[in-house]
Amino acid sequence: MELNAMVMENKWLNEAFKGEVPDFHDRVGWQCPSNIALVKYWGKKGKQIPQNPSISFTLSECCTETFVAFEKADRFGFSFFFEGKENPVFGAKIEKFLMDNQTFFPFINQLSLKIESRNSFPHSSGIASSASSMSAFVMCLLEIESLLIGPSTGSVTLDLCKASYFSRLASGSAARSVFPKMALWGATPYYKSSSDEYAVSLADDIHPIFKTYHDSILIVSSETKSVSSRAGHALMEGNPYAPARYSQANENIKNLLSALKAGDLDTFINITESEALQLHALMMCSNPSFILMKPNTLNIINEIRGFRVETKIPICFTLDAGPNVHLLYPVSEAEKMEQFINDNLAAYCVDNKWIADNDGDGPKKLL
Ligand code: PMV
Repeated sequence: MELNAMVMENKWLNEAFKGEVPDFHDRVGWQCPSNIALVKYWGKKGKQIPQNPSISFTLSECCTETFVAFEKADRFGFSFFFEGKENPVFGAKIEKFLMDNQTFFPFINQLSLKIESRNSFPHSSGIASSASSMSAFVMCLLEIESLLIGPSTGSVTLDLCKASYFSRLASGSAARSVFPKMALWGATPYYKSSSDEYAVSLADDIHPIFKTYHDSILIVSSETKSVSSRAGHALMEGNPYAPARYSQANENIKNLLSALKAGDLDTFINITESEALQLHALMMCSNPSFILMKPNTLNIINEIRGFRVETKIPICFTLDAGPNVHLLYPVSEAEKMEQFINDNLAAYCVDNKWIADNDGDGPKKLL
């Protein structure tokens, strides 16, 4: 474990609320965004430690709202509702996370929690929600803790490093969702405060062009993924290309960090597209192999590349672990892009569906 993370863990253990929970009940609520990685996290070790650092844009429209009602109880009580319906599968993940981390949050054994969660993005749009939902839940948990420790002081004083650390334990890429604009997760010599155990904000180290970037998400398929990211990460262990991948990712981190600072769009485009294709290439050469792209994923990629060559407009794509395409471009191109999407890309999408998203401001306190 890294020294600075050990120091922080000790501090969080020391400050944990270990007393008798007073006889009270309350409700907290947080909204957290999803994020889209530019340099991808694919492969992990130990306790949710990434094999290589990753960088992402924090989104704005694609987010999860979570409310937690809590009251004093003799022992831990728990129920989880997703979009109004009890959801034991997702609830079990949160329950496991709480049980695994009860030394940090011992007060949960004196609380009964009712968690209600919903996503802003359309139901079954094929967009993974674990980053936004787990980080939203962790923000609620930290707020409950701060209410027990002292009076509520609002979003600014919740420790985002702690939120990122525990979000990572709940779902790796969730570590990056608690920061506005852009985040870096994973230790790299090219960024001073970086860590494998939590993400850090890049908001102060990026050119203004990247603070208002747009991400139009083209919904090629709304089915849930055939291979979970947990299984995908595990398959990297036997992947013969893994060592080359990790060294390439480190190189991409170095070059992307300087491109983000300088506002160098050519390098940004080159690295972002290469990373998306590498992620899917790794899936194709794992054993067993799997393919998450669909024919329309490739049709859209070809359209984007053709349009870029023809118009010289600096657009590019990235992909998550699925067939949907994220079209990235500066805000100054938004009008032209809307027309391009409607004229050339929407026909490749399920029911012509796409989501207009952009660089977001991070978690929002709802109550
Ligand atoms: O956080 P996980 O375990 O769902 O993994 C996320 C993996 C990718 O979305 C493919 C890449 C990333 O860095 O977000």
